[in-house]
Amino acid sequence: MSAPFEAGEKVLLIDQRDRTHLFSLRAGATYHTHAGTLAHDDVIGRPEGTRVTTARGMVFAAFRPRFADFVLKMPRGAQVVYPKDLGPIVVYADVYPGARVLEAGTGSGALTIALCRAVGEQGRVVSYELREEHLAQALANVESFFGKIPDQLEMRAGDVTDAAAGEERFDRLVLDLAEPWAPLGALRAVLEPGAVLCAYLPTTIQVHQLVLALPRSGFLHIETFEVLKRGWHVTERSVRPDHRMIGHTGFLTLARVGPED
Ligand SMILES: C[S@@+](CC[C@H](N)C(=O)[O-])C[C@H]1O[C@@H](n2cnc3c(N)ncnc32)[C@H](O)[C@@H]1O
Repeated sequence: MSAPFEAGEKVLLIDQRDRTHLFSLRAGATYHTHAGTLAHDDVIGRPEGTRVTTARGMVFAAFRPRFADFVLKMPRGAQVVYPKDLGPIVVYADVYPGARVLEAGTGSGALTIALCRAVGEQGRVVSYELREEHLAQALANVESFFGKIPDQLEMRAGDVTDAAAGEERFDRLVLDLAEPWAPLGALRAVLEPGAVLCAYLPTTIQVHQLVLALPRSGFLHIETFEVLKRGWHVTERSVRPDHRMIGHTGFLTLARVGPED
C-alpha cells in the first residue's frame, strides 16, 4: 500500500484542524471543499502523506482511509456498528481466518465488512437482511470498500431464520437485529458444537430478554458488556478528556452453543 495514489481508489484528506473528506479519485475531476477547489490530479500519482493546496490556499494531507474512516463516512440505510464496537465483536466472537459466520441483519454492511476481513479468503460470511433497501445500500458499501463483492461473502435477502432450512453449518453467529431471541431456537441446529454467538443490542430491556432466552435455546457461558471510548484533548497547555463523547451505542452479549440435550 506504499504505492502512489491511482485513479479509482479512495483518498482521505485531512485539514489543519483535523477535519476529514473522503472521496474516490478520478482523473481530470475537481473536488469542492469549504476552502475552495482542488484537482484530483494533484493527488493521483503522489504518495500517501502528500500535501495538496486548494485554490484558496487551504492545505490538506492525503492518506488512504482506514476501515474506521470508511465506516464513519459511508452512506447508511440502517444504523451502523461503530468502529469502537466492531473490534470487540470480532475479537470476543472469536471470528478467525477460515471461520464460517452467519450474520444478520446486514443493515448498512459495516459489520459485514469487518467479518469478511476477519475470516479472510478461506472463510465464509453468509449475511441475511430483511429489507431490500438496506440490502442494496449494504451491497453498495461492501463493493465500494473492497472494490468488488468478496468471494467469501454471500448476501441474502430474507429472514435469518431461513438459514435453519439449509444444509450449511456455521462456527459463529453474529446478530445485530431487534429481536435476536426469535431465531435462536431454529438456528441452533445449524451451529457447530462450541460455536460462539455474539448479539449486539442497544437497550437493557432487549439484553434482559435475550439473556433469559439463551439457556432455553441451549446456549451457555453467557456474558454481557459494553465498550466505552473516551477521546482525550492533548495540547502543549492542556491534557484532558474531550468535552463530548458518544455515550452509548450498544451492548455485546456473548454465548456458546452447549452440548445437545
Ligand atoms: C441495526 S441494523 C444492522 C446494522 C449492521 N450491523 C451494520 O453495521 O451496518 C439491523 C438490521 O437488521 C435487519 N433485520 C431485522 N430482523 C431481521 C431478521 N430476522 N433477519 C434478517 N434481517 C433482519 C433490519 O432490517 C436492519 O436492517
